[in-house]
Amino acid sequence: MVSSLINALPKAELHIHVEGTLEPVLMMSLARNNNVSIPYNSIDEIKNAYRFKNLEDFLRLYYSGLRVLKDEDDFYILTMNYLKRASENNVRHVELSFDPQAHTRRGVRFEEVIEGIHSALKDGERKYGISWVIILSILRDLSVEDALHTLSRAEEYKDIIDAIGLDSAEVGNPPSKFKKVFEKAKTSGFHLVAHAGEEGPPSYIKEAIDLGVERIDHGVRAIEDETLMKMLGRMRIAFTLCPLSNLKLNVVKSLKNYPIREFSKVGIRVTINSDDPAYFGGYINKNYEEVAKALNLKPKEIIEIARNSIIASFASDERKREIL
Ligand code: HPA
Ligand code: ZN
Repeated sequence: MVSSLINALPKAELHIHVEGTLEPVLMMSLARNNNVSIPYNSIDEIKNAYRFKNLEDFLRLYYSGLRVLKDEDDFYILTMNYLKRASENNVRHVELSFDPQAHTRRGVRFEEVIEGIHSALKDGERKYGISWVIILSILRDLSVEDALHTLSRAEEYKDIIDAIGLDSAEVGNPPSKFKKVFEKAKTSGFHLVAHAGEEGPPSYIKEAIDLGVERIDHGVRAIEDETLMKMLGRMRIAFTLCPLSNLKLNVVKSLKNYPIREFSKVGIRVTINSDDPAYFGGYINKNYEEVAKALNLKPKEIIEIARNSIIASFASDERKREIL
């Protein structure tokens, strides 16, 4: 059975937004406890609202939903709930993204956010044996000045934040807009990743590479540019694909022609991840299962994808050997 193979494989999750793991039940209870009004009266109403035309449509709900997160404890609970799910999916290493600007801009202190997430990751490591990396993601629809200020906060937490990423509304906000930010982050010794080629054109993927990113989050639209694909393949760059996200946000029409084999064939390291599982209908194993089913993946191909996730992670070589 494919699903038992998927479950049995040790995996790393490399593309997961902690705010996107906010399950409707937790959203309701935090809204009540923190006195935040949300436009829903029941769990069913929340679930019914989760139909998205595109990325922008999703981001509206995502930023509205995360307003229920107010203090360190909330971020702790959110992260812990995710780690429990990750452990049930046999995730052994996680590279967790968070969007500090989505919190600081509504008056929540950076310290509360990072400390809640960090405490949970430390406790989760003890409880579930999941190693971790924290990725601070810059909101690309905000200004470069805001990004530079956020990077300076990351530098204060350099001992626990390992990487800088780039997310939010892609079209019209190319990676090159953040050249200065990524240069500075690289000089400070952060790993670099960026969302590119989700809704944006293949040229955004090239721009992200030029900024020095080590992985591309999404990258699906690379399929439109054969020359770019070959270059990415030669680099052995990893893509953190998120099939259910792409399906729900109409980035692809169906998983029947999801370009995993095309990417693998040129040398791109394909990984499968869940992005915002509370919104897109499934955690990491479900993402593997849906792709395996749609493409009729062979066990060998599934094993390769799980292996890629560990190889493409920022875990130490020692930790990678332990998991593989
Ligand atoms: N794309 C861009 N920004 C995001 C996403 C995504 O899939 N999820 C959360 N922020
Ligand atoms: Zn994402």
